[in-house]
Amino acid sequence: MTSKTSSIPGFRDLDLAARRRVLGEQCALPASELDAALDGGGLSVETANKMIENAIGTLALPFGVTLNVRVNGADYLVPMAIEEPSVVAAASHAAKRVRAGGGFTATATDPLMAAQIEVHDVADPAGAVARIAAAQAELLEKAAAAVPGIVERGGGPREIAARDLGEGFVVAEVLVHVCDAMGANMVNTVAEALGERVAELAGGTLGLRILTNFCDRRLTCVTARVPVAEFACRRASGAEAAAGVASASRFAELDPYRAVTHNKGIMNGVDAVVMATGNDWRAVEAAAHAYAARSGVYRPLATWRVVDGGAVLEGKMEIPLPLGTVGGALRAHRGARLALELLGMPNAAELAMVAAATGLASNLAALRAMATEGINRGHMALHHRASVRPASDVNGSAQPR
Ligand code: MEV
Repeated sequence: MTSKTSSIPGFRDLDLAARRRVLGEQCALPASELDAALDGGGLSVETANKMIENAIGTLALPFGVTLNVRVNGADYLVPMAIEEPSVVAAASHAAKRVRAGGGFTATATDPLMAAQIEVHDVADPAGAVARIAAAQAELLEKAAAAVPGIVERGGGPREIAARDLGEGFVVAEVLVHVCDAMGANMVNTVAEALGERVAELAGGTLGLRILTNFCDRRLTCVTARVPVAEFACRRASGAEAAAGVASASRFAELDPYRAVTHNKGIMNGVDAVVMATGNDWRAVEAAAHAYAARSGVYRPLATWRVVDGGAVLEGKMEIPLPLGTVGGALRAHRGARLALELLGMPNAAELAMVAAATGLASNLAALRAMATEGINRGHMALHHRASVRPASDVNGSAQPR
């Protein structure tokens, strides 16, 4: 079950305890559960000590919710863990504009992650590729036997193919449907289980056996359609603001230097959801930027156009999102589990769609602010609100980013 509504006027003006109460009501959670999960950062020192080596404590981040997000007709109060002021407010504001056009629509492919098995010193690479292809049924059976749990849940190995990389290197790749897991451990298990047989088939020396984080078969697509009439601000009409966003999109499409910053703005939203839900943000970052550069030129992940005869500003994004809603840090991290509860316990595909929508909202907010008021006056104005600095920094020269 998602929240009853993600549109909560006046939420920002409530004090923290009242916000928790309102959220609890929306998500059918007692406020005491929010208190217990969030006071102390959602992670006890004892648990932290079991999660990593050489632990000496925990490091907290602000945890907030982005409002107004509607994806495929369902409302979500989106948990965000982020240190940067203005991102949550800006995403909420942009999501409100998108909501006026019916909300985000999103789809996700099957969650396919690939295991790589590398073999080197291969004398006959073309023959190796052919022999691995011919042994597909045998290899898939062996792979399935290595991960029986995921096969029981309807996932498991799906395809295997090999590529000749040159210089005597051949890589075999096994695609695994990982259901609601991020899937790294499972895929590594498959890679290790098949390694020796693949090397034998290839006639070479077995090398690395590991997943690839370039999960270009695990994609999430999201679209936002904003009525231009809803897009006016203090300094621009709706049509001017929409044209400014479309022009900013073209700039990013034409210039990789701009595309990197454009995508950073998208990842402001995506990463905050990824971190709040206890997912591996390094994996998400690696995949997103590799995907942005897949043509050989680094490109924006999201693009915007004015369509429907000038009536609608439409944004589209396609992004690989290797997210899990089971396993990983989730088992241990109470705050991350609460984040999923606020989202109504989504499956991994649903979580990916919400994260992508939040990323597209962040992108829209930044482009609109820059194309109209300028980033300092608009999007980043809240930085100045957050003048909570350590005593040693109060008179320092630290500037809001
Ligand atoms: C700042 O965190 C993000 C922006 O630089 C994104 C952008 O330029 O599109 C404002």
